[in-house]
Amino acid sequence: MDKIIEKISAMGVVPVVAIENASDAVRLGEALIEGGLPCAEITFRTTAAASAIRTLCNSHPGILVGAGTILTKSDAETAVDAGASFVVTPGFDGDLVDWCLDQSIPVIPGVMTPTDINAAINRKLNVLKFFPAEAAGGVKTLKAISGPYGSIKFVPTGGITLGNVEEYLSLPNVVACGGSWLVKKALISSGEFDTIKSLVREVVQLVDRIQDK
Ligand code: 3PG
Repeated sequence: MDKIIEKISAMGVVPVVAIENASDAVRLGEALIEGGLPCAEITFRTTAAASAIRTLCNSHPGILVGAGTILTKSDAETAVDAGASFVVTPGFDGDLVDWCLDQSIPVIPGVMTPTDINAAINRKLNVLKFFPAEAAGGVKTLKAISGPYGSIKFVPTGGITLGNVEEYLSLPNVVACGGSWLVKKALISSGEFDTIKSLVREVVQLVDRIQDK
């Protein structure tokens, strides 16, 4: 768990990627590596998610591949079987989280309330997805939460963009930000991998600048 969190934290951003056609994962992998961000959270919002994870893991073993939008234990099993190295969930499901912990699969469960955070603390988890970040009060909420929950770190996701990512990454309780703004579904579908590479590069430079501060 800690190693995966360290890698995510070093990268600073995690692209949430929706892939309709699993074979696109190969060129996506190239674009991510060449752009300098060898990481992807493949969302289970599309039916191709598991095969895209398998394809990406096989074509680019150096990329950190996680599974996102995992809603059930069965989805988690499918994702891990396909090669996902970590699991991200939008909400806190105790059974699903327990399964991941039993299998030693790093899991970043979604939380939005102090009650959710307590459920995570009961399972000794200290890095959680804050979702949906912007709609749930964004930076203001994360600052307020840092009082009682000083030891908990977050990966805010939901409504993060190039325009507000710096505000989030500057918070001491944020390890990284997630979001679909980084690798847009439409760019994958239209095969614009050079554009994806340039956008990824731009974000990597921004993160480097923020982390160097
Ligand atoms: C997710 O699936 O993790 C989030 O819905 C991504 O949110 P975004 O599309 O606003 O980045």
